[in-house]
Amino acid sequence: QCQRLDDIVSLSPLLPVITINHPDTAVPLCEALMQGGLKVFEITLRTEYGLDAIRALRKALPDAFVGAGTVLTVEQYKQAEAAGAHFVVTPGITLPLLEYGLQAQVPLLPGIATASELMSGYQLGYRRFKFFPAEVAGGTAGLRALSGPFAGVRFCPTGGIRQNTAADYLALDNVMTVGGTWLAPEDAVATGDWARVRELARASLAELGA
Ligand code: 3PG
Repeated sequence: QCQRLDDIVSLSPLLPVITINHPDTAVPLCEALMQGGLKVFEITLRTEYGLDAIRALRKALPDAFVGAGTVLTVEQYKQAEAAGAHFVVTPGITLPLLEYGLQAQVPLLPGIATASELMSGYQLGYRRFKFFPAEVAGGTAGLRALSGPFAGVRFCPTGGIRQNTAADYLALDNVMTVGGTWLAPEDAVATGDWARVRELARASLAELGA
């Protein structure tokens, strides 16, 4: 699990969290983000277009790595796998999801906000987690505190992180990548302003010194 997730997620320090409101936007949006230097994406299943978007992206952008986000049930996990997702992200944990993820072909990045939740995953063998909602759950100080008892655990913090705070998170040893919606601003996507999306990705990476 760990290795497979690392192989994908560590390809990029930033993970755009994308909700598709119009079915035609997924491919040009991710294309623009790729032109800006990103190649790993989380497509949420918050709208009816999520699974189709994952299918379309796998077909149109073979060099992209496409995760399914906001997966809340095992059924959605299976749908994400069938759509071709490279990985699955959940905002929190349930035992059925954790158990399914252990034996699934497609690795799971489970979301946790506390030490106890982390330990529920840890005892099953999970070592990589989404830290959500990052800013509310303690931010960089919270992650620093978790690094003491949980050496060897690494996180993808998401939730409230923006272009100007991503670097603070990435400076931590236990952070592998930072997720957020700021990389796909709703108004830019709605108007098809792909140049702005591309430049935002570029600028966000530049701010990391990447
Ligand atoms: C998520 O599911 O990861 C969050 O919705 C991210 O949203 P934000 O980057 O706008 O906080």
